Amino acid sequence: MLDWILFFIVLWIVVVIPGLFVIWLNRRYPEEQWDWEWTDTTEVKFPENFLWGVATSAHQVEGDCTNNNWWAWEHAKNSRGAPRIKTGEISGNACEHWTRYQKDIACVVELGCNAYRFSIEWSKIEPMENQFDQAALTHYKTLIRELRQQGIEPMVTLHHFTNPLWFEKLGAFEKKKNIHYFVRFAEKVFDELQDQVTYWCTINEPSVYATMGYFRGEFPPGKRNIRKTGVVLRNLLEAHVQVYTALKKRPGGKEAKIGLVKNLTQFDPIHRNFLLDWIVARTLHKAFNTAVFQFLKTGRFRFSLPGLNLVRHYNGHAARSNDFIGLNYYSHFNVKFSIRRGFVFQLHKDDVATDMGYAMYPEGMYRALHELNGLGLPIIITENGIADKRDDRRFLFIRTYLYAVSRAIEEGVDVRGYFYWSLMDNFEWAEGYAMKFGLYAVNFETQERTLRTGSEAYRMSIREAAREA
Ligand code: FCB
Repeated sequence: MLDWILFFIVLWIVVVIPGLFVIWLNRRYPEEQWDWEWTDTTEVKFPENFLWGVATSAHQVEGDCTNNNWWAWEHAKNSRGAPRIKTGEISGNACEHWTRYQKDIACVVELGCNAYRFSIEWSKIEPMENQFDQAALTHYKTLIRELRQQGIEPMVTLHHFTNPLWFEKLGAFEKKKNIHYFVRFAEKVFDELQDQVTYWCTINEPSVYATMGYFRGEFPPGKRNIRKTGVVLRNLLEAHVQVYTALKKRPGGKEAKIGLVKNLTQFDPIHRNFLLDWIVARTLHKAFNTAVFQFLKTGRFRFSLPGLNLVRHYNGHAARSNDFIGLNYYSHFNVKFSIRRGFVFQLHKDDVATDMGYAMYPEGMYRALHELNGLGLPIIITENGIADKRDDRRFLFIRTYLYAVSRAIEEGVDVRGYFYWSLMDNFEWAEGYAMKFGLYAVNFETQERTLRTGSEAYRMSIREAAREA
């Protein structure tokens, strides 16, 4: 008799309860998959005054960013003597966007875009602590004037992964007490440019900066420490709130639209009937996505892993610290529990892979938009694009992702704009120049830009949207 009771207890604990939990998880977090054969991707509709843009960031395109942490990283070696950048390359002259910006703006115009997102290189504006370079500020003013003259709405990012060397040496965002340096820089730039710029992104992808620099060690400073990852993420979010609050108080602050840019990569279990895959997927989703949304909604930040409460923080202003939310969306990661490594990423067998290794997954854009909509803020898609050297997936990528955006809009999600990443091929961080995200291919010998065939999909979509409106 006792044996039977024991048997049933074990059965419940090992099979029934986990089984019911998995059924609940499957219902609660479905992995949307659409039948594309039966989907008409030309059936799209976008609001009037939609921002149709392209995006770049300073370090990736300008060239000669010699005074920041990335430049130092590109020239450094790891403990085994191997270069930090997978291809051994350095950013160097990049696309020479600093001097060729006029031609690049002509490309933006040629695409039919009405907006351009770019970032301000902090290390050029403030090369040494509290010493501001007026000529560098003037450069950005000129770029913005030129954009406006061409009818292009500028969107400025204040922090896109790079730090001036002096700031990095002080410990950058590892230390809460360093945040004020970034606020001062933001105020300086805002005062100079606010009369010409409406859209401001404070910080690009805090979760990526924290994870890649402090958990995976593939970005500077190359650390691997989970608690530090949480601390850096908290400090970046806190920096965002402080910048928002400070800029709102300045002349032009009320009229400006200021927001954080959040990268949302979903983590889905590769085996949807396997509880351990689910646990890994939900844990990662919570740490890198939900923790940030919770903070922006309630001011409460909690970075934790099962059994470990790593970082806690509260800032009541966080809930009112965005005029819009920027979404960078690329794909989802299917995770598989691994005894040796904790988890690994895998593709589904019928996935179409991008050159970055992750899948084309437009349904994920739709899911991300719905999830973000919970914040109750206007959404601007500040990045979305594909690394596609062969240019044999870009056309499909653009059409299917825009279809997913349109479908979310139709269902009531408040999306105000879409920026394709990127205008042209550029220095793709740890991947060097191998990844070809550009609508324009760049010949790095001659600096010639050539519109890729697949990019026609974007031009076409913008034209069609204008006709519909
Ligand atoms: C994003 C970055 C951007 C670019 C794209 C491909 O995470 O914000 O700079 O590298 O990925």
